[in-house]
Amino acid sequence: MIAIYPGSFDPITLGHLDIIERGCKLFERVIVAVLCNPEKSPLFPVQERVEQIRRCTQHLENVEVDSFVGLTVDYAKLRNAKVLLRGLRAVSDFEKELQMAHTNHTLWDEIETVFLATSNEYSFLSSSVVKEIAKFGGSVDHLVPQQVALDICQCYAETPPGATPPIIMNPPTPLNHFQVE
Ligand code: PNS
Repeated sequence: MIAIYPGSFDPITLGHLDIIERGCKLFERVIVAVLCNPEKSPLFPVQERVEQIRRCTQHLENVEVDSFVGLTVDYAKLRNAKVLLRGLRAVSDFEKELQMAHTNHTLWDEIETVFLATSNEYSFLSSSVVKEIAKFGGSVDHLVPQQVALDICQCYAETPPGATPPIIMNPPTPLNHFQVE
């Protein structure tokens, strides 16, 4: 059974990695799918996030990392996957996640969302928290994979504490409706 783990991953945290590692034990294949959302101004461009995730999941044989635009269920159909994998941290996540799971089910009645309870040690952790800490010069070494911590450090290095760093753009690449790596 193939599971899609969709998300923004801006950037991937140790909490995300924990879900990926545990998902890999449950599913034949886990496709980590980074949403390309033109509405948001991310810290890292989509392609860089894909590469960051690839680097830190190299030890897992049944992981694929990809990016997509549009509806998650359409991407799942394209990849022949009927499971969406999501991590649940606290009660505060529950409402949004439940709404998303129900919405996705109305869009495609064959899709199921499987939630994994986030490990206790990462129950407070989010990409936003990481960015907030880094923005004010704090260390995020204990919150994200090592290489990602370096990328974040580099990103904020020339930015005064408290200011938002400019986005590092990749050269524009033509996007099909779905960009399969
Ligand atoms: O990491 P995030 O930001 O919590 O992930 C949210 C994500 C990408 C899973 C969600 O926003 C999503 O699936 N977006 C794609 C658009 C879509 O399918 N919307 C309908 C379901 S609400």
